[in-house]
Amino acid sequence: MAKYKIAWLPGDGIGKDVLEAARIVLNKTQLDAEYIPGDIGWDCWRNEGDALPARTLELLKNVDAAMFGAITSKPVKAAAAELAPPLQNQGLTYRSPIVRMRQLFDLYVCLRPCKAYPGNPLNFKEGIDLVVFRENTEDLYAGVEFGPVPQELADTLSKLAKSFAPFAALPAAEYAVSCKINTRAGSERIARAAFEFVRKHHRKKVTVVHKANVVRATDGLFLETAKAVAKEFPDIQTDDANIDAMTMWLLKNPFNYDVLVAPNLYGDIISDLCAQMVGGLGFGCSVNIGSKLAVFEPTHGSAPKYAGQYKVNPIATVLAAKMMLDWLGETAKGQALERAVAEVIKEGKVGTYDMGGSNTTLEMAEAIAAKL
Ligand code: IPM
Ligand code: MG
Repeated sequence: MAKYKIAWLPGDGIGKDVLEAARIVLNKTQLDAEYIPGDIGWDCWRNEGDALPARTLELLKNVDAAMFGAITSKPVKAAAAELAPPLQNQGLTYRSPIVRMRQLFDLYVCLRPCKAYPGNPLNFKEGIDLVVFRENTEDLYAGVEFGPVPQELADTLSKLAKSFAPFAALPAAEYAVSCKINTRAGSERIARAAFEFVRKHHRKKVTVVHKANVVRATDGLFLETAKAVAKEFPDIQTDDANIDAMTMWLLKNPFNYDVLVAPNLYGDIISDLCAQMVGGLGFGCSVNIGSKLAVFEPTHGSAPKYAGQYKVNPIATVLAAKMMLDWLGETAKGQALERAVAEVIKEGKVGTYDMGGSNTTLEMAEAIAAKL
């Protein structure tokens, strides 16, 4: 029996291309693993009415980790229109399977390192080395949404909040409400994860990202909680910034920042920005971590227009595989893999189209594997 069981979830579009590439590299590391394929994504939605079928959830309960490619997401109405005819008009609602996976397995940490590998022609600046800790289960991703808005909710809001007055007389279908729900416990555990990471990796500073000047209840709670956690780590510098200002300062002074911690949606936004600063989505890797399971993925989506063309850059996914090796405790293999990626980038002989090269997804993977 293999030492590790890894769920292998390519999903949609280029998810399949990049996972095939990651496998070439993982095989070369000789990780003692069994890779178990799982179904997820758009075909499951269309044919079964569930993008994350029960058999895949069962698989995820019985593995050490999962590698996930990408999924296609569409707004609720567009998704319903694509259901197979027998499944239409049965009240099935599309929800992003990655968001569900994060919630069902309580994968509360979304960790997104963004490092500028020397010589990458796409680096915004050489030397950038940022890490985003994104809270991954709450906030505007809680999934508590109303549109049209039930009268009962409108009545309650009218009663409880003066600021609801401008909306109170609107017909139900003329507005929508998405609840941003942040808990003290949820804010505390993501803040703690960020500070512990800084301590473990001998980094310097945590910046708390929020919009507490306007979104006072939820972001106020997030900021207050993160500041309380910071007190437990007096050796680590802490500051905070509003999300809007943060995007400007990150571009202006990227070297002033180190580890960023943010509620779900701001973390989503800021991690795309940070990924772009180190080469774009072809370089942004991500892991969703809970107490029992970790799901590794590239930050990019399924890019349907490039599906099956073996054109996109697999480095983001290869770096996700590197994080998986580290997480499994196979740190020597993880380090070797990162060195191999760094060497290929530095040499500049092999590059995918985004890097100005003409190599395919699999050629890039072979080039990295050849360095191992
Ligand atoms: C990400 C993605 C997802 C998110 C989408 C695909 C639902 O943008 O992982 O950052 O919004 O979390
Ligand atoms: Mg995103």
